[in-house]
Amino acid sequence: MNNTKTALVTGANKGIGFAIAQGLGALGFTVAVGARDDARREEAVERLRAAGTDAFGVALDVTSDASVAAAAVSIEKEAGRLDVLVNNAGISGRFADGAQDPTTLDLDVLRTVLETNVLGVVRVTNAMLPLLSRAASPRIVNMSSNMGSLTLQTGPVMAAYAPSKSMLNSVTAQYARRFADTNIIVNLACPGYVATDFTGFAGDRTPEQGAAIALRLATLPDDGPRGGFFDDNGVVAW
Ligand SMILES: NC(=O)c1ccc[n+]([C@@H]2O[C@H](COP(=O)([O-])OP(=O)(O)OC[C@H]3O[C@@H](n4cnc5c(N)ncnc54)[C@H](OP(=O)(O)O)[C@@H]3O)[C@@H](O)[C@H]2O)c1
Repeated sequence: MNNTKTALVTGANKGIGFAIAQGLGALGFTVAVGARDDARREEAVERLRAAGTDAFGVALDVTSDASVAAAAVSIEKEAGRLDVLVNNAGISGRFADGAQDPTTLDLDVLRTVLETNVLGVVRVTNAMLPLLSRAASPRIVNMSSNMGSLTLQTGPVMAAYAPSKSMLNSVTAQYARRFADTNIIVNLACPGYVATDFTGFAGDRTPEQGAAIALRLATLPDDGPRGGFFDDNGVVAW
C-alpha cells in the first residue's frame, strides 16, 4: 500500500462529479472514477490523466448490489484502502407531464429517484466502509441539494427529487450519529445551481464552483464538523 490518499467519486464521468475528481486529483489524491458507462468512464479517466491526475476507472452503477460489491473489490486491489468517498451520483427523475407534481406523481419515478439518490448512497457507503475504516482520517461527502431543505423549499415543485434529498439528509444524520465515536466524518454538500446536464446547463454556477464545497468537506481536519449540511456560505438550513 502506498501513502497516496485514494478517493472514490460516484458519477465522476461528467458534471460536478468530474469537477470533484479533478479537484481531488489536483490536491494529490489518487482518484477512483466511479461511472456506470464504460466509454464515458474511460474518457473521463483519460481526461483526468492528461491533466496530471493519478486516476483509475471503477465500473459502478449505484443501483446494483453486484456492481457496487465488485467496485469495492476492484478498489481494494488497486489501492488497498479508501480515504475519501464522495457520493455524488444522482438523478432528477423524469418530470414532464406532471410526473413530479405531487397530485399526479408517477410512483415509478419516485422509486427510481429514491433508488439512486438514497438507496444508492447507502449501498455504496456500506460496501466501502471496510476500505474506509483502513484510512487514518476517512471522510464521506454526500451530495445533497437545498431543494431537500424543508426550511428553504427552494426550486420548482419536484415531489420525487426534493424529498429524495430530504431523506438523504436524514439518513446522513443517522450515519453521523453512528460514527460519532469513530474517526469517520460524514457531511452533506449543496453545490448551488450548477450548469450541467442535470439542469440543462441552466445553472448560474460552474461545475468547479459546485465542486468546491465537496472538496472542502472531503479534506476536513480531524476536529472538523460532523453530520452537517453545508454550501459555500456555511450551514444550509435542514
Ligand atoms: N446541477 C445542480 O444544479 C445540482 C444542484 C444541487 C444538487 N446537485 C446534485 O449534484 C450531483 C451531481 O449532479 P450534476 O449536476 O453533476 O448532474 P449530471 O451532470 O447529470 O451528472 C450526474 C452523474 O451521476 C451519474 N449517475 C446517475 N445515475 C447513476 C447510477 N445509477 N450509477 C452511477 N452513476 C450514476 C451520471 O452518470 P451517467 O453519465 O452514466 O448518466 C453522472 O455521472 C447530484 O447528486 C445532484 O442531485 C446538482
